[in-house]
Amino acid sequence: MTKIKGNNVLITGGASGIGRIMGRMALERGAKSLIIWDINEANIASTVEEYKKLGTVKGYKVDVSNTQQVQEIVAQTEKECGNVDIVINCAGIVANNETFDKQSIRDIERTISINTTAPMIIAQQFLPKMIERNHGHICNIASAAGMISNPRMSVYAASKWAVIGWSDSVRIELKQMKSKVRFTTIAPYFINTGMFDGVKSRFFKILKPEPTSKKIMNAIERNRNFKGIPFGYHFIRFCQAILPTSIFDYIFGEFVGIFHAMDNFTGRQKK
Ligand SMILES: NC(=O)c1ccc[n+]([C@@H]2O[C@H](COP(=O)([O-])OP(=O)(O)OC[C@H]3O[C@@H](n4cnc5c(N)ncnc54)[C@H](O)[C@@H]3O)[C@@H](O)[C@H]2O)c1
Repeated sequence: MTKIKGNNVLITGGASGIGRIMGRMALERGAKSLIIWDINEANIASTVEEYKKLGTVKGYKVDVSNTQQVQEIVAQTEKECGNVDIVINCAGIVANNETFDKQSIRDIERTISINTTAPMIIAQQFLPKMIERNHGHICNIASAAGMISNPRMSVYAASKWAVIGWSDSVRIELKQMKSKVRFTTIAPYFINTGMFDGVKSRFFKILKPEPTSKKIMNAIERNRNFKGIPFGYHFIRFCQAILPTSIFDYIFGEFVGIFHAMDNFTGRQKK
């Protein structure tokens, strides 16, 4: 078990969507303090204002894709809040729904650096100290798109496949070290937070942010290695392994409709 109670919990991307909800849940479950890292200053301020009645909450503006900024904020966070016990790498972006031939270099680099490199750099900053204390938990929010090669989200899918591979590899390293530090990898289907506004889902229901956040917090507390949400996603790789590609593509892509989910994507519209 990883107790949230009494621990310092850091959530990147904690000022919006599921990151914001999990922050509230961390405080409700008795976290010693909630530390929010996000790039959106206005959302950080409103989240801190709303949550301060629930417990100790600190917000830091940081671009997680800027390694120097991350290193500085790590030092500031530890000085002001003490050791970080639980990290939830949740900050993420999806740049567009264009096919790969229309992607810009900027969007490719931005997506990979925020979704993939940043969780690694952030974990690398905290993990050695967690291993030394033999205490800590890092949870990485990947995506179901890291298990199925959805069209019109090739760069996003690549960024999340990489997170799954990296995160699960470190989990095994920790096990081999006999460390009590844990890694949890989460792969949710579409969640109704605004990030993927416009997507259509024929078969699987689009997930609700509140219950999805609760499932992730429970997965951390129960030291789950990997959690696909919904549970059916755990069978994706099995199906890929036993079915010829053309049949897999037809069943999941066309019949279930996953390969058309991004056709009407708009993303979160600026107010
Ligand atoms: N919404 C979905 O359908 C869905 C599905 C599967 C996985 N996910 C993943 O879950 C995570 C949270 O998604 P969400 O739906 O809550 O999204 P969201 O857009 O509501 O929240 C993402 C947060 O990350 C922050 N952020 C973005 N770039 C940043 C940067 N460079 N530095 C610091 N913070 C930055 C944003 O300001 C925002 O507060 C993401 O990693 C996303 O890829 C989302």
